[in-house]
Amino acid sequence: MSFSAVELIIKKREKQELSSDEIRWLIDSYTKGEIADEQMSAMAMAILLNGMERREILDLTMAMIDSGERLEFGGLEKPTVDKHSTGGVGDKITLPLAPLVASYGVAVPQLSGRGLGHTGGTLDKLEAIPGWQASLSNTELYSQLAEVGAVVCAAGSGLAPADRKLYALRDVTGTVEAIPLIASSIMSKKIAEGTSALVLDVKVGSGAFMKTLDRAGDLAKVLVQIGKDAGVKTSALLTDMSTPLGLKIGNALEVEESLEVLSGGGPEDVVEITVELAREMLSLVGIEADPRENLANGKAMTKWREMISAQGGDPDAPMAKAKEWHTIRASSSGYLSRLDALAVGVASWRLGAGRERKEDAVQFGAGIELHKQLGDEVSAGDALMTLYTDTPEKFERAIALAESAAEFSESKPPKRELILGRIS
Ligand code: URA
Repeated sequence: MSFSAVELIIKKREKQELSSDEIRWLIDSYTKGEIADEQMSAMAMAILLNGMERREILDLTMAMIDSGERLEFGGLEKPTVDKHSTGGVGDKITLPLAPLVASYGVAVPQLSGRGLGHTGGTLDKLEAIPGWQASLSNTELYSQLAEVGAVVCAAGSGLAPADRKLYALRDVTGTVEAIPLIASSIMSKKIAEGTSALVLDVKVGSGAFMKTLDRAGDLAKVLVQIGKDAGVKTSALLTDMSTPLGLKIGNALEVEESLEVLSGGGPEDVVEITVELAREMLSLVGIEADPRENLANGKAMTKWREMISAQGGDPDAPMAKAKEWHTIRASSSGYLSRLDALAVGVASWRLGAGRERKEDAVQFGAGIELHKQLGDEVSAGDALMTLYTDTPEKFERAIALAESAAEFSESKPPKRELILGRIS
């Protein structure tokens, strides 16, 4: 069946619904290069402005899945469950979470990406471990899931290639924020990855894609609907991203903090999010457990060591340390009433923890270590955070930004709520 790209653009511009055949044709033709980027840009803008119905979003997701391969883990003798986070500052949760959930006999296929911008990517963090390899063939992925249970690896180029093309176009045409486009982008990759259950961690606040609870709630509802319509058991937690998660931001620093959590310690906010997501994932596959137990008894750490070794990493190797550091001190006494996630995330990125262009390398040791968290009492002159980099010329802009992230108050601010909602 063949349609006219211009007619479909006009149809969406006039707020009409696109049929299933039209959506399938649009995505197939765009993937093959038969629809021009400028036409797809106009369509993305029409979708951003006029939205899509539930059926259209599902059709879009399924068409993007059909543009590539679909993995199949039906032969494994254990259920599969995955987590996707919409991304945040200091969000290293996948690192302790995947082995923790796998330690209950569940398979966790975590196909992840690299960081672009201030949020950092899971693969960049794990690559800070000497020897660790991100790329696995589908056969290696399957055997590791069968033998170890937990895999975090690079999503191959065969998964949802339409999304890769469309995402790059959205990035340069001001159309990233459209909920139907974000939702179909995330879910096409997760459904193509072959998981039978999925928990979404939809972040809310300055360091997240979604700045307000209303927008995040709208996105979460659409994500959960798509999952269910596609036969994947799906639920979502809405979690706070107004301030960084944990005390360490940056690749090697975040691996260090994850190891603290896997050793039964670590900052309470990181532990709480890890435990609540693990509880949700296990519950979707019919296991009721208190995940704090396997953090405390060492089972999650054993699984981590197996997972890292299986991909060539040395779990005992010392982590990279940056060559230079600079400590920022509190400018007044009182309580830390604001520590803005976006400012800290961008400062860490500027120090070299993130990349500006896809082809840039990240500095493993770069980043920020917080000495105080939101709500802590401080005295003027106390160390607030330490900035790390190998390239000291990066300090000036990062320091200015990191300093602007902090504000102080005389009275203690209300306790931070981490879990802001649940959608199932
Ligand atoms: N993550 C994705 O994979 N796609 C989006 O559109 C936004 C976040």
